[in-house]
Amino acid sequence: MIELAPSILSADFARLAEQVQSATEGGGTVIHVDIMDGHFVPNLTIGPPVVKSLRKATELPLDCHLMIENPDQFIPEFCEAGADWISVHQEACVHLNRTLNLIKSHGCVPGVVINPATPVDTLNEVLDIVDYVLVMSVNPGFGAQKFIPGAVRKIRRLADLRSERGLSYRIEVDGGIALDTVGDVVRAGAEILVAGNAVFGQGDPKINAQKLLKTAVEATLQKV
Ligand code: DX5
Ligand code: ZN
Repeated sequence: MIELAPSILSADFARLAEQVQSATEGGGTVIHVDIMDGHFVPNLTIGPPVVKSLRKATELPLDCHLMIENPDQFIPEFCEAGADWISVHQEACVHLNRTLNLIKSHGCVPGVVINPATPVDTLNEVLDIVDYVLVMSVNPGFGAQKFIPGAVRKIRRLADLRSERGLSYRIEVDGGIALDTVGDVVRAGAEILVAGNAVFGQGDPKINAQKLLKTAVEATLQKV
């Protein structure tokens, strides 16, 4: 099943609840929350207090994408604040197995993320303990960047590995997802589509979300 995860990074932070509501009316079913620390990525965003407020503003699952160093230090706090899904970067975790188990032990759904330069094979030993794998299709840190096409091959590889190994993780993609790129990622096997600029950049988030989701669902019908 295809799901749209609007990324609030491109939303108007002063009207967050309203913007989340409108993306939800457009068909968003997961809210993607980008957490940046100014170290792992060259930008700063939000922390647990905003997650706590968002928790009161929506019933949809909050997908917290941690782009931070030492995620173990903050995972309990994000879970406590109301995160439902938490993903950590392979590149940021020295003890990745431990970190994923920490997420699970706090009652959240664990996911792992790889940057554009990180091969899928670096995840071989954790694919059986994650609920989702997030493939970055831009270098993380900013919204509205250009889609890096190498992500398509990585998504396809993850879908193949999943069937070969009889696993059940879901495949999420993040970065540069818009009307012109969504078809390729969906046909490759992406199921959770993160979109920031394409939903909140210009115009009405509700209409933008509807169009993007419709294009994605149509692409599944062409999947070979
Ligand atoms: C980038 C973030 C993304 C970002 C995507 O570091 O992880 O979630 O919001 O933005 P768009 O969809 O604008 O590329
Ligand atoms: Zn993200």
